[in-house]
Amino acid sequence: MCGIVALIGSREAAPQLLEGLRQLEYRGYDSAGIATVDGAGMHCLRAEGKLVNLTQRFEAQGAPGQCGIGHTRWATHGKPEERNAHPHLDGSGTVAVVQNGIIENHRLLREELQASGVVFRSDTDTEVIPHLLGRELERLQAGVLSPDGRRPGGALLLRAVQAVLPRLQGAYALAVVWAEAPGALVVARKAAPLLIGLGEGEFLCASDTPALAGFTRTILPMEDGEVALLTPLGIELYDQGGERVERSPSLLSGTEHVADKRSFRHFMLKEIHEQPETAALWVARHLPDAPAGTAAGPLVALPLDGAVLEGVERIDVLACGTSRHAAQVGAYLLEQLAGLPTRVFYASEFRYSPPPLGPHTLTIGVTQSGETADTLAALAMEQERRQLVADPAYAPRLLGITNRPESSLGRMVDQVLDIGAGIEVGVAATKTFLGQLLAFYGLALALAERRLGLQAGGGTITRERLLALTAGLRAVPQQLRELIAEHDRQAEALAHRFESTQDVIFLGRGINFPIALEGALKLKEISYIHAEGYPAGEMKHGPIALLDAKVPVVSIAVPGAVFDKVLSNAQEAKARDAQLIGVAPACGDTELFDVLLAVPEVDELLSPLLTVIPMQLLSYHIAAHRGLDVDQPRNLAKSVTVE
Ligand code: M6R
Repeated sequence: MCGIVALIGSREAAPQLLEGLRQLEYRGYDSAGIATVDGAGMHCLRAEGKLVNLTQRFEAQGAPGQCGIGHTRWATHGKPEERNAHPHLDGSGTVAVVQNGIIENHRLLREELQASGVVFRSDTDTEVIPHLLGRELERLQAGVLSPDGRRPGGALLLRAVQAVLPRLQGAYALAVVWAEAPGALVVARKAAPLLIGLGEGEFLCASDTPALAGFTRTILPMEDGEVALLTPLGIELYDQGGERVERSPSLLSGTEHVADKRSFRHFMLKEIHEQPETAALWVARHLPDAPAGTAAGPLVALPLDGAVLEGVERIDVLACGTSRHAAQVGAYLLEQLAGLPTRVFYASEFRYSPPPLGPHTLTIGVTQSGETADTLAALAMEQERRQLVADPAYAPRLLGITNRPESSLGRMVDQVLDIGAGIEVGVAATKTFLGQLLAFYGLALALAERRLGLQAGGGTITRERLLALTAGLRAVPQQLRELIAEHDRQAEALAHRFESTQDVIFLGRGINFPIALEGALKLKEISYIHAEGYPAGEMKHGPIALLDAKVPVVSIAVPGAVFDKVLSNAQEAKARDAQLIGVAPACGDTELFDVLLAVPEVDELLSPLLTVIPMQLLSYHIAAHRGLDVDQPRNLAKSVTVE
């Protein structure tokens, strides 16, 4: 949550800081601020609300200096008001700090500082940092003069940060400037992302790659516990123990599609329309070219070292939100196709109520951003507790599924499946969900192929069945293309019917139950309409009491194991006057629906790749019709880096 940027070089910093914040605004948009330093001192501008407010303030007041920091906020401690906006300053107004994360012991530190006379101006956890730094700098400054009589500003700021960091508990990425050292910038991270971009005679640090993409392709991701002193001349990187670290930078990849809506009204709509491309890329990368039915080679080409899958007997998946819904579809595939018992956990619950350890377990973390704190913390906990067991059968095997292989997740796990969907800006996940689903199809097919002849939930695993599924997967990009074109029009035409809707129920069964959950989540987060996803057969056990003519029911009914049952459940809703919207193939059986959002008839196991499209488009058009900020819904942020 929150995005930070910091720049030092030989040109005015503020325009680049604002551009960096624009690229990071998906991380939070409750308020924004920048602070720059020059020979005249500190220039700090902050504004409540979206970045546009800060930009207007900058245009009116300016913020000179070739070194500065910036922040876009998702409120954790303190309301989204200007006084809680970053940067925060020390009492003298000469030290400015931006921070992303949570300082867990801020109360204690605040009390200590208040006892020594410090006056706080915000309710944030961050404000303790500039005050601690201000005090430390005062202490260090006494008597420290360089041979030319000037104070060695940058080195002193670095020492102050290094002295203060051990006092901070929690996760953070921060950037600091000091009016007495306008040629220096100090940045640090612990369990929150921070990358340094290397330009020509200038450096730009940011929480995430989109802010760096237009600036440079050469980046140095900071490791946990590291601190860096940046000057226009270079980077000094230090580890947690204060030892100098030398590390080569790497090249940024996959950022070409950054922050360009093309002709679409919103990023979300553009990203929905990019899904055929996401699927086509996945097919090209992972389904080898040989015609189905003739190849003897592997069915799926997964860029994984086989060791991570060797001898796996069970799978645990940790994820949040939409990623968790993808994992639920994945669990269905892994059990029904590959016969591997698979459990999906809310990452935020797993950490505090971990199940007993099982042997030969593959633990998968699913997170499009690769930075979700709950998921990372749960994975770290699993890794630690498995490392304590002497029996090698219990050794940790961690696999990540992410859109950001260079993320914290990528650095934590043994191996990564990169979903390669390109940057997703809309807060509501769409194309990354499809990418995650495809990653699970690949994984389930690869594991099933290793287990041919064994029993899976769906019967004996045969090569013919797997070949039929891979053939079905090859058809998905074109099916998506047609489906998106059709449903975009249909959902737009339907949206006005939801003008006064307050509740919607989404029903699905089997492999489409998680799609019902995903449909409900999408609608809730961008349209603020209350929505619930239920297994269709569960409706009669309670939720049916909610139904009347004002409550639309969206029912996913695809031919397969539970088709008739789902249709009966839909009839039960219709008998209570609910408006029935079907996501189903057009056929005699589906005439009961008041509105049919038709999907092609495919193998039931492949159907989630298609049934999710009407869910996404319906939510999008309902929210857009209501005039809501689809890409930046209230209270949310794209990557949730606090627990
Ligand atoms: O980056 P992650 O996939 O780990 O994010 C997990 C959730 O925060 C995320 O899926 C959230 O539910 C989205 N806003 C859904 O659209």
